[in-house]
Amino acid sequence: MQEAIIAEGLVKTFGDVRALDGVDLSVPTGTVLGLLGPNGAGKTTTVRVLTTLLRPDAGRAVVAGIDVLKHPNQVRRSIGLSGQFAAVDEYLTGRENLQMVGELYQMSARDSKARALELLEWFNLSDAADRPAKTYSGGMRRRLDLAAALVVRPPVMFMDEPTTGLDPRNRLALWEVIQKLVEDGTTLLLTTQYLEEADHLAHDIVVVDHGKVIARGTADQLKAQVGGERVEVVVQDRDLIGTASEVLRGYSRDGVAVDKHTRRLTIPVQGGAKLLAEVIRDLDARGIEIDDIGLRRPTLDDVFISLTGHHAEDADEDEQDTHASGGKSGSGGKTAAAVPAAGDSGKDAA
Ligand SMILES: Nc1ncnc2c1ncn2[C@@H]1O[C@H](COP(=O)(O)OP(=O)(O)O)[C@@H](O)[C@H]1O
Ligand SMILES: [Mg+2]
Repeated sequence: MQEAIIAEGLVKTFGDVRALDGVDLSVPTGTVLGLLGPNGAGKTTTVRVLTTLLRPDAGRAVVAGIDVLKHPNQVRRSIGLSGQFAAVDEYLTGRENLQMVGELYQMSARDSKARALELLEWFNLSDAADRPAKTYSGGMRRRLDLAAALVVRPPVMFMDEPTTGLDPRNRLALWEVIQKLVEDGTTLLLTTQYLEEADHLAHDIVVVDHGKVIARGTADQLKAQVGGERVEVVVQDRDLIGTASEVLRGYSRDGVAVDKHTRRLTIPVQGGAKLLAEVIRDLDARGIEIDDIGLRRPTLDDVFISLTGHHAEDADEDEQDTHASGGKSGSGGKTAAAVPAAGDSGKDAA
């Protein structure tokens, strides 16, 4: 089997809303697909159709080689889904919840226990293992729910915004878990609102907006499409644009984009912060004073502006941060991983 997940022409309307407007996607066995899009794009609806929870108005889906519309029960046996199937029982402890899932799927008591222990550890729940789930915080519940979906090691997994609501430590922990799953050969479709996350975890990315696929490719291809990483310099004096351009040309095979009006020069780069430091030294050595300089990384919002001409509605705060003052003022707002002097925290730099 080449493709573990195939969707063709999925359409789903809710009243006036076309939640899915002809979605096509496919996920090769053993790979991770990141389904990327803002709130309301149609991510959850896609996942619900592929996991048999929702019948589409039109289209076809095949998961683990089985037709989703014709044989939903067989599909359910081959997949795991975090967020829906794996209902957590409030009155059982975390450990009991996981063991119960194992026993439900006819694992031996011994295997269920061992798997529960392993998953509690992976998801940083060992300390809380013997407390009833009703005492768990929101983030802990989410992790327990994710763990429950992994008890039986399904060959095809779906995770709907798995890291939304997790703190940074648990986000990283989940990233590690996902990497383990992939090493074990699991095929995964995960949805996210973060380009950075899709970049990190997914082999391929499909971008959806208003129920339509608006782009697909690897993270690198998408970034190339939106311009990738670039250094932006705003020089103080218009007369020095020429000299600055000469300096920057040494760092870019693809030329220098110059906006004389705003005194802004932009070059595509690879090599990030280290290169930025070199550029600064070089400009300084040529006596070019700068108003602003920064390394700019594409965000989901950049992808959207580049592909659709509009912002991703409801974009997450992180994305908006790097855009809030992205105008012409050179306030440093555009410098996602700016030099320390710039106003931004540079939290996207990692
Ligand atoms: N059960 C439903 N009833 C009515 N509208 C729905 C329902 N589920 C989803 N929608 C609408 O369909 C669109 C896509 O929703 P959804 O797939 O949940 O988006 P996402 O998961 O990308 O945020 C949204 O406009 C949403 O309001
Ligand atoms: Mg959703």
